[in-house]
Amino acid sequence: MHPTLSSLLLAATLAGVPALAQQPANAPQPTAAAQAGPVGNAAPVLTEPLTRPATAAVRSQNIFDVKPDASNETGYAAQTNGERARVQPGNNAPMWRQVAQGATGYTSLPASQAPEAGNLIQEFVDYPFMRETNAGEAWRQVRNRWILPYGAALLAIVVLALALFFVTKGPLGREHPDSPRKFERFTPFERAAHWANAFAFIVLAASGLVIAFGKFFLLPVLGLSIAGWLAYALKYVHNFMGPLFAVSLTIVILTFVKDNIANRADFHWLTRLGGMLGDAQVPSHRFNAGEKGLFWWGITIPGVVVVGSGLVLDKLIPGVGELRAHMQLAHMLHASLALWMVALIIGHIYMGTVGMRGAYRAMKDGYVTEGWADEHHKLWADDIRAGRIPAQRSGEASALPDAAPTPART
Ligand code: HEM
Repeated sequence: MHPTLSSLLLAATLAGVPALAQQPANAPQPTAAAQAGPVGNAAPVLTEPLTRPATAAVRSQNIFDVKPDASNETGYAAQTNGERARVQPGNNAPMWRQVAQGATGYTSLPASQAPEAGNLIQEFVDYPFMRETNAGEAWRQVRNRWILPYGAALLAIVVLALALFFVTKGPLGREHPDSPRKFERFTPFERAAHWANAFAFIVLAASGLVIAFGKFFLLPVLGLSIAGWLAYALKYVHNFMGPLFAVSLTIVILTFVKDNIANRADFHWLTRLGGMLGDAQVPSHRFNAGEKGLFWWGITIPGVVVVGSGLVLDKLIPGVGELRAHMQLAHMLHASLALWMVALIIGHIYMGTVGMRGAYRAMKDGYVTEGWADEHHKLWADDIRAGRIPAQRSGEASALPDAAPTPART
């Protein structure tokens, strides 16, 4: 016989030995021929029963000791793991049932370093609109059945509604011929803060959307390897862009908060739906009620929560984020409010570009014509003319584009 084949046969015969030793006494004994193996005398024949030294801590369990009908006994379902082990060795269902219900076991790891080490599966939680289940599964369902589908639907509705609005109504506002009389709407500092914030937001939004939805729209096109690497790389981009967004957001909030405090004119603006009910724009101060609404409910409040929860997810806030419950809550807030922000900022970008004539110019070079100011922010223009607000708040007049603004009329 070929030497390799004979050694394989020898190994196969030896591998069968422990299995034979495990057989119960009443099991049919192998015949001598079977013991000798398929090659007869070529394989070694066992003459002595194989015994192993008893290992103190390990008690072997024999599957043939299991009582197959043990499950019919009363109280079977309520057995502890120890009781179950006596009738069905190796069946650890009672223990796993406890684990699945959030039981915390013993661990020698210090709670300060590993607060949840003794707990494999979290306790049950009762979220609204969902059946009671353990916290990990509940979080998974909130993400996959609520945040992602409803978030995607919200974005789709916003994009479609804006497209429809643009097609039916076109850009808002009149054309204003360039005039030498201009008002400085945003200083270079305000524009720098705005664009740094806008840049960070767009990068975060794009990378966040790939992380959340890439599986559905990129994976089928790019394939597993490229889509996987892209999501992996964008996760790092997302993590590093977060701090730039946090800093620029803080500057944007502090810079614009003063002019976003609600006043009586905003109430009037809201009751007329910002001019939607008629042809003319409703007079407003520097920012109208729509812009103020976006400032508070689309940028400041959700922005602070999104940044805070992002820092928790990055484990950058000491003492928070060690527990899975912290991470789950942080993720749910982060994802849902970030999608909310993206939906509103899409509307803001629309109005700041194609949706309103002359708006982009204000944020591009900082100035608007007096006609534009009168049409869109009449009360602000009045304040400038009355000298209550300087027509130019920054730099030298010679730095102005086109022509120097006329000093405020008194
Ligand atoms: C490409 C993206 C963006 C464009 C084209 C854009 C455009 C504009 C324009 C034209 C204005 C001036 C509006 C006016 O004169 O009344 C403005 C104001 C403003 N934008 Fe943006 N923007 C963009 C992204 C963002 C982002 C991502 C944020 C914040 C997350 C943001 C926050 C603001 C704020 C706070 C104001 C001042 C208005 C107020 O405080 O109510 N913008 N933007």
